[in-house]
Amino acid sequence: MTLLTLICCFSFSFFFLQSYGASPTVETLDLKPQHYNPKLPPRTLSSSKKFEGSSDLVNLRYHMGPVLSSPINIYLIWYGKWAPSQQLLIKDFLLSISTSNHRAAPSPSVSDWWSTVSLYTDQTGANVSRSILLAGEYSDRLYSHGTHLTRLSVQEVIASSVRSAPFPVDHKNGIYLILTSVDVTVQDFCRAVCGFHYFTFPSMVGYTLPYAWVGNSGKQCPEVCAYPFAVPGYMRGGGPGALSPPNGDVGVDGMISVIAHELAELSSNPLVNAWYAGEDPTAPTEIGDLCEGLYGSGGGGGYIGQVMKDGGGRTFNLNGRRGRKYLVQWIWSPVLKACAGPNALD
Ligand SMILES: *[C@@H]1O[C@H](CO)[C@@H](O)[C@H](O)[C@H]1NC(C)=O
Repeated sequence: MTLLTLICCFSFSFFFLQSYGASPTVETLDLKPQHYNPKLPPRTLSSSKKFEGSSDLVNLRYHMGPVLSSPINIYLIWYGKWAPSQQLLIKDFLLSISTSNHRAAPSPSVSDWWSTVSLYTDQTGANVSRSILLAGEYSDRLYSHGTHLTRLSVQEVIASSVRSAPFPVDHKNGIYLILTSVDVTVQDFCRAVCGFHYFTFPSMVGYTLPYAWVGNSGKQCPEVCAYPFAVPGYMRGGGPGALSPPNGDVGVDGMISVIAHELAELSSNPLVNAWYAGEDPTAPTEIGDLCEGLYGSGGGGGYIGQVMKDGGGRTFNLNGRRGRKYLVQWIWSPVLKACAGPNALD
């Protein structure tokens, strides 16, 4: 449900698979072993839900609710001040998910990545849709509900935008994605979550609409929510440190993987009664939670997995439309019973 932060357990050697050259060379960067700090703030990390290998211990179950199987219409709400270049970067990511929006990007692509999400079905036999459109966007530049939002006031922001924007209330295909700018604080942001998804309450918004929120952590906690483009202080000095973000924007590049995580979970568990593991529906472990921090083959135990590096040293694992590159976490596959992504080495 939430993107729980993982600031433990990163010990350090990263392997980078060069993305160019006929026979890729594997370069090993040996980072100095760092201190493992098991004393974590309890709210940040009550438990690590990450599973690196294939596992039958992961009791991911279907709870009879629907998945988002009709074409998905995303209604984007920009809360606070956003640079057009940041908006374009995020919109390009969203538009890269569905192949109908662009000429196929080279593999491994963002739409290849979504094919793991579309393996989830509901009791009608329908799969999560492969078609994702940007159906509308609304900018709340004047911070209509202030610069601090709570979990409930996020719903008020949605309610205001549904009222004031040219947004339909799209109960059939709509999901609402609210993105807060770098100066907006949100309840639990940085301490317990980097993003979350849920559905709106009729008493707040008038309808039950699946939504997700993701914040720009660039100034508040990049080492928590834009990891691995920023690393916690105690890891600095000694190792090569943070990885270079694919689009040069630590906060927004970090948000992309969180947005991806929340969209995958929202689509497979929109009403929090479809796909999740664990017995407690108030704290479900969902298909993104299981693979948090994992971006490629051989990840785990401190490795993020084999990812790629472009000529400028920027790290990525997926190609998007218009030549974009992104670094996005893997997703639990119900078929492989393991985390999966299109940049897997087999
Ligand atoms: C739908 O899900 C089933 C079960 O996971 C899978 O075998 C099938 O390939 C999926 N279809 C698409 C179009 O993803």
